[in-house]
Amino acid sequence: MVSMDSLVRVEGLKKYFPVRRGLIGSLFSRGGIFIRAVDDVSFDIASGETLGLIGESGSGKTTVGRLLVRLLEPTEGRIFFDGEDITLLSGKELRERRRKFQIIFQDPMASLCPHMKIGEAVRHPLVIHGIGTEREQKNKVLKMLERMGLSPPDAFYDKYPHELSGGQRQRVVIARALILRPKFVVADEPLSMLDVSVRAKLLELMIELKRELNLTYLFITHDLSTAKYICDKIAVMYLGKIVEFGRLRDLYLYPAHPYTKALLSAIPVPDVKAKRGEILLSGEIPNPIDLPSGCRFHPRCPSAKEECLVKEPEMREVSSEHWVACHFPLV
Ligand SMILES: Nc1ncnc2c1ncn2[C@@H]1O[C@H](COP(=O)(O)OP(=O)(O)OP(=O)(O)O)[C@@H](O)[C@H]1O
Ligand code: SF4
Ligand SMILES: [Mg+2]
Repeated sequence: MVSMDSLVRVEGLKKYFPVRRGLIGSLFSRGGIFIRAVDDVSFDIASGETLGLIGESGSGKTTVGRLLVRLLEPTEGRIFFDGEDITLLSGKELRERRRKFQIIFQDPMASLCPHMKIGEAVRHPLVIHGIGTEREQKNKVLKMLERMGLSPPDAFYDKYPHELSGGQRQRVVIARALILRPKFVVADEPLSMLDVSVRAKLLELMIELKRELNLTYLFITHDLSTAKYICDKIAVMYLGKIVEFGRLRDLYLYPAHPYTKALLSAIPVPDVKAKRGEILLSGEIPNPIDLPSGCRFHPRCPSAKEECLVKEPEMREVSSEHWVACHFPLV
C-alpha cells in the first residue's frame, strides 16, 4: 500500500485520545483509557490522485484528515509530504509547509468568521504568508472568486457569509483553501451539508479544479455514490483501521472485505431491476474504547468464523494493488 513516488505517505499512524475518568473509574483502572481513533494506518497518495476515505460515522476519517494536515499531533507514526518527513515540524517550518496542504470542512458556515467579509476571508492566507501587495492580493482574490462562479466578484468581495447560500459559502471556503496554490487538499465531507442539486455542481467544480491546478485530494465521504465520480482509489475505514484499499473499479466491482460489501450494497441503484440485495449491517459500530477481540468487525460480520474472534487480520494483497484485512476475503 506504500510506494516511494507518492506526494503523501503515511506510515503506522496512530491517534489515541485520552478519556477523562471519574473518581470511580480512576479507582478501578490503573493507567490511561484511550479512544483509539486511528490505530496503525499506512497508505500513500500519488501526485494528481484522489483517494477516497470512506466508512461509517466514528471510524476515524476526520482524525486521519486532521493528522495529515498537522492540525492534530499523532500518537505514533510518520507523515511524509513530497518526500519530507513533516511529522515533527513546528513553528515557522510548519507554517511554510502549510501553504502546500489545506483542509476543507463539512460546514462552510462554521469555517467562516461571520464578521469577516468574503473577500477578506479569501485574502487572509495571502496576508498571513506575506504574499504580494494589498492590490495584488485583492486582484488574486477577485480572479479566484470569479473562477469559483461567484460572479460578479466585486459584489461578492464585500458580502458577509450570512448573505450567501450554503453552496456559495462552500465555494468561498474552497477559494480560501486554494488561494495559496496548495498541492494537496483534504476535503472532509465537503458536500454533505448541501442540497442535492448544489452538490453535483460543486463536485464538478472540484473535479475541474483538480485538473486545472494539478491537485491531489483526500476525499472523505459517507456517500459511496459521490466517491465513484471523483476518486481514483478508495480506502475503507472501520474503527480506526483501514480494512480495504484499492483502485475504485476493483473495490466497487470486487469488494474483498465483508464490510465494504455491505457498504456498497446499501448504495441506491436507480434501476429497480438492477437493485442488488442490500446487506444490512447488524448492530451499532462498537465503542472505540473497548474494541472487540481479534477482527474488530467480527460482532457484525456475516462471514465471521472462530479464528476471527482471536486473531487480528493483517493487510494482504489479494490482487494487484488491492489490499484487504480479512482472514476470509471474498475475492
Ligand atoms: N478531540 C477528540 N477527543 C476525543 N475523542 C475524539 C476526538 N475527535 C474524535 N474523537 C473520537 O474518535 C473517533 C473517530 O472520530 P472521527 O471524527 O475521526 O470519525 P469520522 O469517521 O470522521 O466520523 P463522522 O463520519 O461522524 O465524521 C470517534 O469515536 C470520536 O468520538
Ligand atoms: S476477518 Fe473474519 S470477522 Fe473479520 S471481516 Fe474477515 S470474515 Fe469477517
Ligand atoms: Mg468526520
